[in-house]
Amino acid sequence: MASLWDVEGREYIDCGASFGVGNLGHSNPAIVAAIQEQVERLVHVGPSFGTTSKAAFLEKLSAIAPKNLRRVFLSNSGSEAVEAAIKFARSSTGRTKIVAAMRGFHGRTMGALSATWRKEFREDFEPLVPGFVHVPFNDAQALSKVVDQDTAGVILEVVQGEGGVHVASPEFVGAARAACDRTGARLIIDEVQTGMGRTGRLFAIERWGVEADLLTLAKSLAGGVPIGATLTSEDVERAFKGSHVSTFGGNPLACAAGSAAIDYVLRERLWERAEQLGSKGIARLRALDTSVVREVRGLGLMIGIELKEKATPYLQALQDRGVLAIGGGSSVIRLLPPLVIPAEKWSFALDAIGEVLVRG
Ligand SMILES: Cc1ncc(COP(=O)(O)O)c(C=O)c1O
Repeated sequence: MASLWDVEGREYIDCGASFGVGNLGHSNPAIVAAIQEQVERLVHVGPSFGTTSKAAFLEKLSAIAPKNLRRVFLSNSGSEAVEAAIKFARSSTGRTKIVAAMRGFHGRTMGALSATWRKEFREDFEPLVPGFVHVPFNDAQALSKVVDQDTAGVILEVVQGEGGVHVASPEFVGAARAACDRTGARLIIDEVQTGMGRTGRLFAIERWGVEADLLTLAKSLAGGVPIGATLTSEDVERAFKGSHVSTFGGNPLACAAGSAAIDYVLRERLWERAEQLGSKGIARLRALDTSVVREVRGLGLMIGIELKEKATPYLQALQDRGVLAIGGGSSVIRLLPPLVIPAEKWSFALDAIGEVLVRG
């Protein structure tokens, strides 16, 4: 289901998908069935024990993961997946400096927040974790200059979500990989929002042809049930000296939902749907005859419409027409519809966006 209903029974087409959690729609029957079956058997045991549910999920996730990232640490959210990646990068290099990008968003726990750029998210909680440096997004030279022998990791979103749907250039991602190779730092690609088909590929990084040392996933990975995953290379795992565990990470319920979600994504080839519906959507939005739009950009069903003014009144006008979208920065309308959205609902949403942007 790509829609939500309010208490009065009014339908809203959910083009925000709860910040990208709902790739498979709301209450997808395949996820509901998997949860129902698992809940009868076992809801939770701690990480000291393996379960058949966790083993099956790890096998499925490893089978689809980029081929150099077959080790998985499971947690409960995107922020936790990022925290683990930062810890793994630090421990496996014996270094502390982490290089991140301006406008980047990696979560709100203290380590993830230290990698996050926006001042309003950070300032009330300072001092944050020391050792984090931010470079302008897509400035390959600045990034190469700042990564040095003290650098534990470089963390990037290849499509910045919260920052307003900015797509990384091949030069920038290539420079990040080269700088990590030159210095022995770890390249962390944060796919919490872009992963699992959203951008028209199973993992967005596939488009750049670059290997990450660590890759983070969360949001839609278990079809709406809280989960986080940090994928690592064998090299990172071998060099990791610390200890890191999560009580709920890898719990049977989330893993059962995760297995069903991976099966569904593969069976329905949802990344192809994202590519088709997304490119049609981007073309339609770019063709709008309106002076309020500065730029339409994105990949697959991750689309940003940058306005010349604040986005909030337009988001409200869309909601009044029965379409939910979310902001990205202050002037971007961000569209992250479920990848299962029926073509006619997507078309209805695009019509509504056109009406709002053309007529105000
Ligand atoms: C790229 C990225 N990383 C990390 C996070 C944090 O995820 P969570 O809110 O599940 O902690 C988000 C959330 O929006 C995100 O978009």
